[in-house]
Amino acid sequence: MMPLFGAGPAMPSRLELQEGAVLLHGFAALEAPTLLEEVERIASISPFRRLVTPGGYTMSVAMTNCGRLGWVSDRTGYRYVARDPGTAAPWPSMPAAFLALTARAASEAGFRDYDPDACLINRYEAGSKLGLHQDRDEKDAWAPIVSVSLGVPATFLWGGGGRSDPIRRLRVEHGDVAVWGGPARFVYHGIAPLKDALHPLTGSLRINLTFRKVF
Ligand code: SIN
Ligand code: FE2
Repeated sequence: MMPLFGAGPAMPSRLELQEGAVLLHGFAALEAPTLLEEVERIASISPFRRLVTPGGYTMSVAMTNCGRLGWVSDRTGYRYVARDPGTAAPWPSMPAAFLALTARAASEAGFRDYDPDACLINRYEAGSKLGLHQDRDEKDAWAPIVSVSLGVPATFLWGGGGRSDPIRRLRVEHGDVAVWGGPARFVYHGIAPLKDALHPLTGSLRINLTFRKVF
């Protein structure tokens, strides 16, 4: 098995969640303004929208995507598609700054040569939440999820391999990056309802970038 944790330079703060999963506090703090500019550009092409689940529930988190593939949901199910169903055009391409950051974060967590083909962009407002779930619509069952928090802080719910396993509540702030893959790839996770707060760069919003290797 590949080594999971390289002996990289010490991070300001790094929390090992379990084998294959780490929370890197402040890892994206420097490039955060650039990432947010890119999000604005992407959303001007493929706007944020609230998707409907197969069960008919409208999600409180608004979403868009960039990259070769984008994650979508509707009454017929969850899937990855190469075109934005709203505009019928391909998703905006993945900015170089996104790729550079994710490769650096994945490598910090022990996953080399990370090459995500999808970036789901989540936009939370006060009260928005994401229920406990596994990311399991991807063919690649080892490559990590890289998840970047921007703007208003949130409570990240970190469970286990089973839905009813104990849940840790972790604060994720602007610039924090979570990476989970390998033996931790299918851990249940979610976001508690977002609190009313203000961030100088995003106002009352939290933005999350979730990178996945689908194929
Ligand atoms: C997700 O699980 O897709 C997003 C998690 C987050 O918003 O931090
Ligand atoms: Fe997820």
